[in-house]
Amino acid sequence: MRLSLPTLVALLPFYLELVSGQSSGSGKTTRYWDCCKPSCGWPKKSNGPSPVQTCDKNDRPLNDGGNTKSGCDNGGNAFMCSTQSPWALNETTAYGWAAVNIAGSNEASWCCACYELTFTSGPVQGKKMIVQATNTGGDLGNNHFDLAIPGGGVGLFNACTNQYGAPSNGWGERYGGIRSRADCNSFPAALKAGCYWRFDWFGGADNPSVTFRQVACPAAITSKSGCTRNRDSIDQTPTGPKDVPTYTPTP
Ligand SMILES: *[C@@H]1O[C@H](CO)[C@@H](O)[C@H](O)[C@H]1NC(C)=O
Repeated sequence: MRLSLPTLVALLPFYLELVSGQSSGSGKTTRYWDCCKPSCGWPKKSNGPSPVQTCDKNDRPLNDGGNTKSGCDNGGNAFMCSTQSPWALNETTAYGWAAVNIAGSNEASWCCACYELTFTSGPVQGKKMIVQATNTGGDLGNNHFDLAIPGGGVGLFNACTNQYGAPSNGWGERYGGIRSRADCNSFPAALKAGCYWRFDWFGGADNPSVTFRQVACPAAITSKSGCTRNRDSIDQTPTGPKDVPTYTPTP
């Protein structure tokens, strides 16, 4: 096929987008669970039809189009749903959610996008986790994935005291959260499994480094978050089954 010069010039932006649009690289992780409404829970953050599902104070889904004030703002009643807790599919793969900051990008590009993380340090080295970006944070650096893990520390904001009666700085330390698996025993029932995940599948890893690449989201993730993206630099059609069972490691 021979294309005329004007055609080639016209196609150039699409080519460049394909090359540069699908982000990948190496990055860092931290962990948090602040109970706040994630920022991609507001309307029109992503390029898709609906925002990230949020829940009321009793952890019941709000079907509000994303318009309810965050539980982290005075009088707000939108919180992170407990169903957006990480879970393991098998010994080497887990799914979950994260607050994200991708170098040179913005929320319009990453809200509800999924990233396959391969851990490159600590006890999870070599394992993979696919996370959907539901949030961001003023304290995140470049290529930073702040994994949403119940008991991971509230960080800058805290709605967990309001929602669950957690201590005033959240459970454990404000940054990093609780320290031991046994601390999960007294957690609210809906958050226990995600809390244990950190000490079981995740091996108690402490902010492991990662390599990452953008992937189409598994339908098992988007069916819980309620958020999908329209096609951008990649085909964003969710992949695989809508429901995948939780793998429980044998101790
Ligand atoms: C774990 O699950 C992922 C996602 O379904 C799959 O790609 C991978 O092959 C599985 N690994 C094992 C060891 O079963």
